[in-house]
Amino acid sequence: MSAVTTETLRIAVIVGSTRDGRMAPTVAAWIADLAARRPDSTVDVVDLVETPLPTVYPGFGQPEEPAAAELLAAVSPRLAAADAFVIVTPEYNHSFPAALKNAIDLHGTEWHAKPIGFVSYGGLSGGLRAVEALRVVLAELHAVTIRETVSFHGVWDKFDADGKAVDPASDAAARTMLDQLAWFAHALRDAKAVRPYAA
Ligand SMILES: Cc1cc2nc3c(=O)[nH]c(=O)nc-3n(C[C@H](O)[C@H](O)[C@H](O)COP(=O)(O)O)c2cc1C
Repeated sequence: MSAVTTETLRIAVIVGSTRDGRMAPTVAAWIADLAARRPDSTVDVVDLVETPLPTVYPGFGQPEEPAAAELLAAVSPRLAAADAFVIVTPEYNHSFPAALKNAIDLHGTEWHAKPIGFVSYGGLSGGLRAVEALRVVLAELHAVTIRETVSFHGVWDKFDADGKAVDPASDAAARTMLDQLAWFAHALRDAKAVRPYAA
């Protein structure tokens, strides 16, 4: 038995930094634009500033709070609907931001058997250590992380006033990552259409 699903891929781009004065929107807009140019994809940008998440974990001994549920309702269905994710993350002290960890921890099945690609940035490291930290966390959540990454070290000089990456190699690296992401997204979606994921 085989299945080839034909609907457009839904890629959610998650903006991992919530810091005042953050670089994140520039980096996220750049990768979201490249992803949206793909003929097989639509893009939903999930910005944790525009849709802040609660820190209430009802499954872990905390009671349900209506206000928290309302905040979650603005994000969780969008993650559930996604076939694939691109996480845009800076590096803070050799790892990724707390708000991003909270967004990951608040969800479960939304990540299961889905591919996740990374665009990272930072100072000297280009966010690569944040990505390695994320891979460990996301493996626990049954996600498939993509080998190819896009990273910007010294991110402050890497985009022009129009939000374009100044090094053409950045766009090429992003396209390679998105190709791999889409390959896994199609493959996993087709597989799940035949057989539910065994979580
Ligand atoms: C608290 C903090 C810790 C940081 N730690 C690192 C680090 O370990 N490695 C690195 O390359 N850059 C580090 N940086 C630089 C950030 O990656 C850089 O400022 C980036 O623009 C932050 O993303 P944002 O502006 O979207 O929040 C750090 C920045 C902050 C605010």
